[in-house]
Amino acid sequence: MCGIIGYAGRREAGPVVVGGLKKLEYRGYDSFGFAISGSKIAVYKKNGRISDFNESEFSANGSLGIGHTRWATHGVPDDKNAHPHMDCSGKIAIVHNGIIENYAELRKELISEGHIFTSDTDSEIIAHLLEKYYDGDLLSAVTKTTEFLDGAYAILALCEDEKRIVAARQSSPLVLGIGDGEIFASSDITPMLEYTQKVIFLEDGDIVSFDKSSLLIMNAGKEVSRESELIDWDIDAARKGGFDHFMLKEIYEEPDVFYNAFYFEPEEEFVSKIRDADEITVVGCGTSYHAGLIFRYLMEEYAGMPVRVEIASEASYFKPRPGSFIIAVSQSGETADTLAVLRQAKSAGCTTMAVTNVCGSSITRVADYSLFMRAGPEISVAATKSFIAQVAVFMRLVDELSDKTLSESFTGIHRVIEECLMVDVDAAVSMCKGAKNLFFIGRGAYYPVSLEGALKLKEITYIHAEGYPAGELKHGPFSLLDEDTPVVAVCPEHDSRALMISNIREIKSRGSPVIALGGAGDIDLEEIADVFIPLPKAPESGDIITSSVILQLLAYRTAVAMGRDVDKPRNLAKSVTVV
Ligand code: G6P
Repeated sequence: MCGIIGYAGRREAGPVVVGGLKKLEYRGYDSFGFAISGSKIAVYKKNGRISDFNESEFSANGSLGIGHTRWATHGVPDDKNAHPHMDCSGKIAIVHNGIIENYAELRKELISEGHIFTSDTDSEIIAHLLEKYYDGDLLSAVTKTTEFLDGAYAILALCEDEKRIVAARQSSPLVLGIGDGEIFASSDITPMLEYTQKVIFLEDGDIVSFDKSSLLIMNAGKEVSRESELIDWDIDAARKGGFDHFMLKEIYEEPDVFYNAFYFEPEEEFVSKIRDADEITVVGCGTSYHAGLIFRYLMEEYAGMPVRVEIASEASYFKPRPGSFIIAVSQSGETADTLAVLRQAKSAGCTTMAVTNVCGSSITRVADYSLFMRAGPEISVAATKSFIAQVAVFMRLVDELSDKTLSESFTGIHRVIEECLMVDVDAAVSMCKGAKNLFFIGRGAYYPVSLEGALKLKEITYIHAEGYPAGELKHGPFSLLDEDTPVVAVCPEHDSRALMISNIREIKSRGSPVIALGGAGDIDLEEIADVFIPLPKAPESGDIITSSVILQLLAYRTAVAMGRDVDKPRNLAKSVTVV
């Protein structure tokens, strides 16, 4: 995920673009850059954050500008991979948000035609395609170029010979701001709010040409008109895209996040290394550890392969065996405990792989292989969308190592996750917010789902919550059950359902109220639970995702109802870089 901004207007473009990038920084902060068009195009780009940009390092006059703040996906974060990217002549500059899936073949073709590439990004091919198709009209060149692009993009392009910006949108956000003698284009409305509240949300397939006072929107070769809207958000709220908290915004991104993370092509080389390994071990901390546990159940069920899962801080007390395949899972890629085990495993001669959200992070530099979750920056301290992305990556791996039933059945999962966002959890929130202690229970893969549900709730509400295997509760914790200790039971349509229902009956007879998540229309569950939350109908194993999303919402709404600092809970940090 990256942020882009374009400006054409009566002001100097430089300060507008730089100011805009500062507002888009939450979308990625690996590197930044901009191009200002005056008599020539002047470009500045740099590894690091726009907030550290020293204005004395660069000055260029011009009333047209485009800018980018990067969250690296293809190519490590460094100066050369920062946007804008230029064509060979240096006359065309582009910024891009999204992923061009067929970039490798296009790049090969362009290189064979003599184009010289200066970065490792997928985005640079756009500049060279524009060069190839430019014959005096940037709009036609962008239109022609998009015909060759597979994937997601929001693009802004400048050409030295033209006094306009051309933009294109496909599956990546792009919004126009219509001011008085000025027009903006951006990934979201935050950079333009201080100048105008009149905006146009572009649609997929739209290609736009604009200068300070004229605007042309084309779609499928025809001119189209798009309604403008007046936005009354204040600047601070808009940074969170209109959501009260980053956590909620990130939960709402999950339908896309799952899709992006799940649909990737694993390299045959590491897949066969996993297949041939003497032992497969996953290490991680917190939420990442829980994702590893889900992988274990799925690998056993679908691929018939045993997997060991260790909390990273404990794993260092076991000697890694050469011949093992070690998977280190970490959203940030910087967690010290996880990094330490990875290094230890590497020096013991194990093959290692990182599963992370951050390109160029420390674990990717140590591991032999890396898989990226592509979830975009996660700002709220409590991990939500990154957990969904980790599970998605693991599910894809399981799929590759088994008979591919998951990828066949997951085609409509995007919609199902969207439905979860609408599920009413109010009654459950009322029950949780008054409790001092809670248990979350599940069986099979729903046991780690319940561990994660409990972790989310305790992290942000400060209510003591324990995840437990449902069958184990009677071996001790039963002594804690009473009418003030609710139990959240994750009980979807699964082999474990019948046993879960008898566990719930045992719990009920000890006086604890039960909140049950189960298949819509599960009459038994509806009858015995005090609060029943129906799960939207999902494909097999999809309930791992739906129940996780709903438990995240339960934690979020309970924390809000209790007035907690949701995005920055006390004593915690997003990335823990000490052992
Ligand atoms: C911290 C965060 C947790 C996170 C854990 C592992 O404790 O507060 O939310 O799950 O680190 O982080 P990682 O970046 O390695 O996934």
